[in-house]
Amino acid sequence: MKEKNLAKLLEFPQLGDQRGHLVVVESKLDIPFEIKRAFYIYGSEKTVVRGQHANRRTEFVLINVSGTSKIKVQDANGNESIFNLDRPHIGVYIPKGLWKDMYDFSEDSVLLVLASEHYDGSEYIRDFKEYVEEYHYE
Ligand code: TYD
Repeated sequence: MKEKNLAKLLEFPQLGDQRGHLVVVESKLDIPFEIKRAFYIYGSEKTVVRGQHANRRTEFVLINVSGTSKIKVQDANGNESIFNLDRPHIGVYIPKGLWKDMYDFSEDSVLLVLASEHYDGSEYIRDFKEYVEEYHYE
């Protein structure tokens, strides 16, 4: 089983000079959607697994602006990809309808999440069996 999934790594330009680095992400240019929401996750222990849900309507880009973490994305047919977010100028684009886990957080991890929609708890699927039933394809 291969293909589908469609999560992908994004690399943003680094506008650095002798004063340090600067990374810009703009809606519809570097980020493939209009950003309606941003949140960030930090202070998670290395053993913690976050996410463990799929979103029916929201697309995301995840960026480790500090530290590192790993992102596992899978579709309902078991096509899986793992992204190692280990530099502040890369991100993972996650289309809607994919299951995601965030884990292996470094102590200094600050994971910035950009989202295409405002928060709506009812568009989250938090039960993996339910997710597979709803999204499994031939
Ligand atoms: P949760 O989705 O479980 O976090 P993660 O995906 O990182 O594992 O969210 C944790 C709590 O925060 C939950 O009670 C819902 C709330 N929340 C909001 O109110 N707004 C938001 O934009 C997000 C992402 C979460």
